[in-house]
Amino acid sequence: MVEELILDNTFSKEDKYKTLLPQIEALVFGEQDIIANLANIGAALKSTFHFLWVGFYLVKNEELVLGPFQGSIACTRIKKGKGVCGTAWQQAKTIIVPNVDEFPGHIACSSASKSEIVLPVFNKKNEIIMVLDIDSEELNTFDETDEKHLLQITKLIMSFS
Ligand code: SME
Repeated sequence: MVEELILDNTFSKEDKYKTLLPQIEALVFGEQDIIANLANIGAALKSTFHFLWVGFYLVKNEELVLGPFQGSIACTRIKKGKGVCGTAWQQAKTIIVPNVDEFPGHIACSSASKSEIVLPVFNKKNEIIMVLDIDSEELNTFDETDEKHLLQITKLIMSFS
């Protein structure tokens, strides 16, 4: 298992993702424990991009329940259709929020959060089993580049779920 990520802060966002994905694949290779893998994936994303908060909410009994995360304490349960996370789950699609103050029903776990991206994670039966939630301290942080590469990470999670 790799012990340290190779990071280059001079890289573009695209290049950071391209460098990170194979390292994440190596990190989870041969490990089937989902919590261990999610914890490392969250840490890898946080340390590469210095996002405010990176974490997973797991689908449990018709609710999202806080899973492995990196960042400040966060709300533990989110109902379907609530907040950005519950909406991404309900609509089964990625949601990019350029300004959280303009998203009706946004759940503010931290007043420092300004923009957000949430991607649903599917299992092999095409059921949503969790969402990946990333918060930024700056407005307009997330775009199609994040969506494209984070989607690859959700597909990797599917492979061991
Ligand atoms: N902002 C999220 C809640 C989770 S925190 O960002 C960690 C939402 O509106 O669903």
